[in-house]
Amino acid sequence: MHHFAYKGGELYAEKVSLERIAEAVGTPFYCYSTATIERHYKVLAQAFKGLDPLICYAVKANSNQAVLTTLARLGAGMDVVSEGEIRRALTAGVKPDKIIFAGVGKTRGEIAFALRHGVCQFNVESDQEIDFISEIATHLGARAKVALRINPDVDAKTHKKIATGKGEAKFGIPYKDAMRLYAKADRLAGIDVNGVHMHIGSQLTDLAPVEKAFTLMRQLVVRLRAEGHDIGHVDLGGGLGVPYKAGSEIPPHPDDYAQIVRKCFAGLDVKLMLEPGRLIVANAGILVSRVIAVKKGSERTFVVVDAAMNDLIRPTLYEAHHEIWPASEKRKGNNVLVDVVGPICETGDYLALGRKLPPLAAEDLIAVMSAGAYGAVQAGTYNSRPLVPEVLVRGDQFAVVRQRQTYDELIGLDRLAPWQTASQQPSPNPERAPPPAVKPPARKPEAASAGAGAGAATKRPSGGRR
Ligand code: LLP
Repeated sequence: MHHFAYKGGELYAEKVSLERIAEAVGTPFYCYSTATIERHYKVLAQAFKGLDPLICYAVKANSNQAVLTTLARLGAGMDVVSEGEIRRALTAGVKPDKIIFAGVGKTRGEIAFALRHGVCQFNVESDQEIDFISEIATHLGARAKVALRINPDVDAKTHKKIATGKGEAKFGIPYKDAMRLYAKADRLAGIDVNGVHMHIGSQLTDLAPVEKAFTLMRQLVVRLRAEGHDIGHVDLGGGLGVPYKAGSEIPPHPDDYAQIVRKCFAGLDVKLMLEPGRLIVANAGILVSRVIAVKKGSERTFVVVDAAMNDLIRPTLYEAHHEIWPASEKRKGNNVLVDVVGPICETGDYLALGRKLPPLAAEDLIAVMSAGAYGAVQAGTYNSRPLVPEVLVRGDQFAVVRQRQTYDELIGLDRLAPWQTASQQPSPNPERAPPPAVKPPARKPEAASAGAGAGAATKRPSGGRR
């Protein structure tokens, strides 16, 4: 359930029309609904009522500070996979004792950073990683609380790029090695082994593999305790799927998922941890884009919009389906079969293929639905397209919670090599002076203000990507 709906023929995010936001910020933009984020969190918490799990939102799904703050204020912890995500969680006011540090390749620097800030758990992915953590913790005089991520070799029946629980995946420690590694971890200095972690994949729509993995997990906890390990935490990972496609694939309700958890871990007396990402934010966000042109090819009709694969890569990366809703229901006519494509110079640049949509024309607004998870966070600047703004709606209010990247910011990250600038030419020691930033060429005044300054409108120059 989400809070994007038509009122009087116009699409609204809660009580704000998308056209109004588009007027203010230009297109494309991501738009998030506070009520939807809060609702999803509460539905999950309610499903687990009585079990009192620590719900650690998976920051990777959507790491905007406004989103994290919304969840932190509801009491959420955070599941993070990099120093950047630890910093984001801390900045959003999450206490370190609610931050789980996961990730298959934590660097020594990141481990030290996490230890210094006292994160509540490291989810360890390899034999070597336990050694690194032990070494660094000892050096810092700290203790690391550790759960081992176990790979149960279970097929999660999801897209191959987001399945993580099969033996062939890079994730986790093979189930058969678990006992040996727990024994080793127990002997290491600076390490307190206190948990077991699993995460078999994302967008899970079938609970059978989940139950299989949880059953294995329970057996492991029992065996570990029998060997004298003090296992107090069971981290179930994330992965519960969301409905992307109208009228088909209805993923399990959190209540059904919680039911399996209750069954599998009954009487075990452990602190449960959850790492939901998509479930909380996917349907709480949309990508709003304007139609640039409608083009009839020899075989297909293309609706060319100003958002592209750099803004939302899911359709082309995972063959993901996102519903497309016109922002106005007022255009009359029979549905037509179209491809919704972006302006990027790749055939893979599409948001939807072979969709029956109401007739669309240049300047119409569309919403790409269910784009709140793994949308903005996976965006890039391919074709030198600046990152688009993110807007948070709450009731009848909206705010830009991430400015549109300006062309100055985009180009200004580059530097010329010293030998490319006249002033540096004869320098005998090019390391002494940092090379100057590349100055973007002067632009027309209306283009120069795009996205500049805190609180400024982030509209695009007209005629371009707005
Ligand atoms: N915990 C771990 C260890 C994870 O690897 C992930 C996601 C999660 C939790 C959160 O999973 P969720 O509840 O969001 O399914 N970019 C892909 C999804 C990648 C998922 C990566 N790991 C997509 O757009 O579908």
